[in-house]
Amino acid sequence: MWKGRFQQDTARLLSQYSESISFDWRLYPYDIQGSIAHSKGLLAAGILSAEEQGAIETGLLEIGADIESGAFRFDPGLEDIHMNIEAELTRRIGAAGGKLHTARSRNDQVALDLRLILRAETDAIVGLARGLQRSLVWLATENIEVIIPGYTHLQRAQPVYFAHHLLAYVEMLERDAERLGDCRKRIDVMPLGSGAIAGSTIVLDRALIARELGFAAITQNSMDGVSDRDFACELLAAIAIAGMHLSRLSEDLILWASAEFGFVTISDAFSTGSSLMPQKKNPDVAELTRGKTGRLYGNLVALLTMLKGLPLSYNRDMQEDKEPIFDSVDTIKAALEVNAAMVREIKVNGALAGSDPMLLATDLADYLVLAGVPFRQAHEVIGKLVAHCIKEGRTFPEIELETYRTFSPVFGPDVYDVLDVRRALDARKAVGAPSLENVRAQLERWRGALG
Ligand code: ARG
Repeated sequence: MWKGRFQQDTARLLSQYSESISFDWRLYPYDIQGSIAHSKGLLAAGILSAEEQGAIETGLLEIGADIESGAFRFDPGLEDIHMNIEAELTRRIGAAGGKLHTARSRNDQVALDLRLILRAETDAIVGLARGLQRSLVWLATENIEVIIPGYTHLQRAQPVYFAHHLLAYVEMLERDAERLGDCRKRIDVMPLGSGAIAGSTIVLDRALIARELGFAAITQNSMDGVSDRDFACELLAAIAIAGMHLSRLSEDLILWASAEFGFVTISDAFSTGSSLMPQKKNPDVAELTRGKTGRLYGNLVALLTMLKGLPLSYNRDMQEDKEPIFDSVDTIKAALEVNAAMVREIKVNGALAGSDPMLLATDLADYLVLAGVPFRQAHEVIGKLVAHCIKEGRTFPEIELETYRTFSPVFGPDVYDVLDVRRALDARKAVGAPSLENVRAQLERWRGALG
């Protein structure tokens, strides 16, 4: 492509070192879409005749079909997807193909392709996040009555509905989808027309090309247009955060599926065995999801680090953006998809440890508060009562009223009412708290919102 200026052929080692076709080939549908839109701009500017534009469009669509069918042979000597397609177009349709690159550079071309693919992938990721939300809402609905201990510091804290715990992840995924949607606004900007750095003396109607490609806006500075990748950084950050959420869900599932917790059983179809220990059944989906989150963080840091020292505008370093970007996109899509399917097959153990009456210590303190004892004092009284229970090897319901009264004269016979777990949960009626009524209302809200 630059043979006019050069007297030597490219060293084979450099070709191997610099090729990107092995990973940027997947831009082809977007490269073709972008080139067709560009050819329409060239037509409108009188650079191409209608006949030439028609030949270009048909030629590009045929090349696209050949790539799709696997009939196309990529040439690593042609470096990247842009040159592979353009060279093949010229081979097929002759001189008109050589006019396509007028007023365009691979710098604005690759920026365009990246925005087009990431716009589509962002929508796909949001769709898959919705799928996992639906699975979680389904599992929560199926097990609406199940109570588990809620944990802080991984120590039993207070009882909650299992559904309430799952709905926490539905909320997180909702914010993930929101973040992706917000980032999409900054992806959805058309850079074509920036040229290599300073536009072109051949002025194309950028608004026309943007409309052709369905972009909401047009970049306003050609140097910015070819050289920034902040939209991709944002996307990888949003993906990394979503991965962090999935990793925490995974950790909960791994704990819950252990014999020690015994809260859930993951189906055989989504578990693996051990090559050595016949009794083992491992939650590999959750473990892999937790593990892959490291890659998502790594990809974000790789992209930010690659960009941080670059002078404006385009630098070849930026070719290194694609592998981390594609890896994050593929990794999060796979994780969302497999987790959504796995969750649908989870069986929940209905007879759960959530009924441990000792988890109602705070409720006992609240009982004293409602009888006029200041909370700090109530906390201390119940603390002493807990110590007494531990010493005696008994639980709250097994303590006689006279003993309660030795800790505080305020205790009356209704203290035992407080010790009913379902009643205790239903008293938690504030917005966001886990009364059954609230949890049901939330499930309904989500079913409506997710369709
Ligand atoms: N393959 C290149 C990339 O991914 C395309 C742009 C190349 N531009 C250039 N002037 N070498 O960044």
